[in-house]
Amino acid sequence: MRRLFEPLEIGGVKIKNRIMMAPMCMYSAEDGVVGAFHMAHLGARAVGGTGLIIVEATGVSQEGRISPYDAGIWNEKHVEAFKPIVEFCKSCGSAMGIQLAHAGRKASVNLPWLREEPLKRGEGAWQTLGPSPIPFDVGYPVPKEMDNGDIEKVIRDFAVGAMNADKAGFDVIEIHAAHGYLINEFLSPISNKRKDKYGGTLNNRARLLLEVIDAVKRGNRLRNKPIFVRISVVDWIDGGFDIKSAVILAKMLKESGVSLIDCSSGGIAQDAKMDVYPGYQLGFAKEIREKADIAVSGVGLITEPEFADFIINSGIADMVVIGRELIRDPHWPLHAAQKLGTDIEWPKRYLRAKL
Ligand SMILES: Cc1cc2nc3c(=O)[nH]c(=O)nc-3n(C[C@H](O)[C@H](O)[C@H](O)COP(=O)(O)O)c2cc1C
Repeated sequence: MRRLFEPLEIGGVKIKNRIMMAPMCMYSAEDGVVGAFHMAHLGARAVGGTGLIIVEATGVSQEGRISPYDAGIWNEKHVEAFKPIVEFCKSCGSAMGIQLAHAGRKASVNLPWLREEPLKRGEGAWQTLGPSPIPFDVGYPVPKEMDNGDIEKVIRDFAVGAMNADKAGFDVIEIHAAHGYLINEFLSPISNKRKDKYGGTLNNRARLLLEVIDAVKRGNRLRNKPIFVRISVVDWIDGGFDIKSAVILAKMLKESGVSLIDCSSGGIAQDAKMDVYPGYQLGFAKEIREKADIAVSGVGLITEPEFADFIINSGIADMVVIGRELIRDPHWPLHAAQKLGTDIEWPKRYLRAKL
């Protein structure tokens, strides 16, 4: 058995292999309600053998969505829509996670296939929020500098989102603190210029994230469910968030009961200088795993089964996150097992096609 296909138990949840499907926005929900597309899309990856599926960035509030077509989890309609999808994917043997998100100053944009520009007045644009009144880029609106009331609402929204996710049957909650969205905007000195207890030192910039985690754990049964946090380990900008801060943050997250850090990077500003190649973020994952002694997942251009197996085998990460390659090939885990010569269980209905 190759290590890629060894099961993992994390926070009481059993995951049949080390393959995690990356959260990927599909911009296909109506009023936040997921539907037939999501059943087909997520269901196919469950049939294809994915160990843990993390559902796309899902808004904890209407204004927290990137676009009007993002999935949402702030009301009962959202819970009911997710239930059959979660149930089906779990019946295929996948564990199910959901990424809870607030887009902050990068909210209120149109669809990526329409160039992902900020919505204009008359196109349904809404007031964006941020730690400081600094726009993401030229052409983006100035976000409202959040006051204490706004911050308390966001914390409550994450707690309600987590409770709803629990009701919908999700096993894992992933908090989106990466890619330049709201929580990342608080963490990064590039976007957070606050003078109050939410700005300045790393402890202060991490306060919102830690309060969100506390609220998520306090209110409900999630106390016993694993919480993952996706962070941008580096901003790729001088004077930005860096690996040193990320290691300290990871220690704080471990202390607060987080089970795994999903190690991504970038997204806080357009002019970041990223050096992108297969596995380009794995060094960050390894360093956080070693120095903060916490489980991590590694992501970024991982496409080859041998490489994915090496990542687990060499102790770089506890899980590998596959994004675009799983879009190209929903059965990537089944194919990876074949390529690695590991016999894993196939979906019964597909057995006659097993090579
Ligand atoms: C279509 C698409 C949508 C994405 N949406 C999200 C998202 O909702 N949340 C997130 O954290 N990352 C998102 N990402 C980033 C992926 O999760 C992943 O980190 C990135 O694609 C790198 O992995 P890959 O090279 O395996 O695709 C998205 C990427 C793609 C291609």
